[in-house]
Amino acid sequence: MPRFLSAQPDARLITLPWDTPLADWPAEMLVALPRGISRHVVRFVRVGSEVYALKEVLEHLALHEYRLLRDLVRIDIPSVEANGVVLSRFDPDGEPLDPVLITKHLQFSLPYRSLFSRGVRQDTVNRLVDAMVVLLARLHLSGFLWGDVSLSNTLFRRDAGSFAAYLVDAETGELHESLSDGQREHDLSIARTNLFGEFCDLEAGGLLDQSLEPLILVETIENRYRELWGELTGVEEFDGSEMHRIESRVRRLNALGFDVAELDITTDFAGSTIRIQPKVVDAGHHSRRLLRLTGLDTEENQARRLLNDLDYYRARTDQQNADEAVVAHQWLTQLFEPVVSSVPPGMRAKLEPAEFYHEVLEHRWYSSERAGREIDVHDAAQSYISTVLHQLPDEALAVSTEDTLAGLANPFDPSMGFADADDGQPYDPWEDGDEAPAAGAEPAEDFLDIAALRARTDKPTLRS
Ligand SMILES: Nc1ncnc2c1ncn2[C@@H]1O[C@H](COP(=O)(O)OP(=O)(O)OP(=O)(O)O)[C@@H](O)[C@H]1O
Ligand SMILES: [Mg+2]
Repeated sequence: MPRFLSAQPDARLITLPWDTPLADWPAEMLVALPRGISRHVVRFVRVGSEVYALKEVLEHLALHEYRLLRDLVRIDIPSVEANGVVLSRFDPDGEPLDPVLITKHLQFSLPYRSLFSRGVRQDTVNRLVDAMVVLLARLHLSGFLWGDVSLSNTLFRRDAGSFAAYLVDAETGELHESLSDGQREHDLSIARTNLFGEFCDLEAGGLLDQSLEPLILVETIENRYRELWGELTGVEEFDGSEMHRIESRVRRLNALGFDVAELDITTDFAGSTIRIQPKVVDAGHHSRRLLRLTGLDTEENQARRLLNDLDYYRARTDQQNADEAVVAHQWLTQLFEPVVSSVPPGMRAKLEPAEFYHEVLEHRWYSSERAGREIDVHDAAQSYISTVLHQLPDEALAVSTEDTLAGLANPFDPSMGFADADDGQPYDPWEDGDEAPAAGAEPAEDFLDIAALRARTDKPTLRS
């Protein structure tokens, strides 16, 4: 009998065919979803309404990754959530099978290969890069040494037009009290190597915008990481007459989405030189505030956007002096909830509620500009649903099937190559330039790029 190690056991998992190697599980149990390539056998299974990712891996690695993922969630790092490990597996002949690490499928997550599968624009790539840099800095602030920084080990979720990055593979990770500069440099050098390889793959497949160079992208990531790290942790020294710089530093950190829990301020004897250094900074400045006011749990940029809308609502309803929590409740029940629940049930898997609301705000802005008057948010929602939303693919379970999975030898496993590849020759399907559209080929309709889609829809008609 297999043994389950789990803090929150899901009884429906117990009856799965654990005596069968994961690679041989019957197709009717599996869900074909786009994902990164992997060394291990990874499969998605659906039990009830939940989808889990299963990874067959050596016992000490499974246990290590399970514990580390639980720690990451505890310290509030965006990562996939470990559900358990299945140990002591044997096949019907009594031969031992490797344990399986179970994680919850991260809803609305986009593996980078499906983001790039149709070619993405330069500013989208910049946003992906930014998300990756913030994730790495947050991990390092928490003392987490990743050891295998790569796009394949990162998942992206939409965040008010930008992206939020999540860690998906913690196998090589180590959690320390804090990291030395040498340890951070180690992670950065791994990031350089892995990301350069991944960007080159994309380039060879004609999926990287021609204006983007792998080497420059990698350098950008490194530079932005260093800038962010400097802002988050650097010492600042100034003259006693420039006390406002303390507040400026805190504001800059807030603008980057971080809260300062401890700021170390020292002065020399005469009090003429001030030295400040943030000691503890926590990510999620805006999302924590929104959660406190409304109970909505969103990504950071989404929270920023919704808080701005809340401020706007407060001004428009002339409630500047009213209690913030009361106004937030009105905003939630009069605007946010009705707008979000106006999405027809069949379209709810397309975008997360907060992302939908952000999109409606954008749409309203464009429509109001065009109309020369303010469009009501509820009308904007209706118009967004009928002109843009219905064209988008479902994203609750990543971007589904046909496009990103077409031609794979095994729709459940991109690591196994394309159907017409040489038999028995394992290779990375995405590396094969011949299989992918030729570089410079016209990218197909860019359905993942909501901004582009919206821009087309929002374009004023030529008729005056
Ligand atoms: N919980 C999850 N939610 C969504 N996608 C997931 C989840 N777990 C795994 N994946 C997908 O499966 C892919 C492979 O998983 P993972 O990186 O853990 O495997 P691996 O064999 O350890 O990889 P590596 O070759 O880097 O060691 C990921 O790139 C990701 O796209
Ligand atoms: Mg991996």
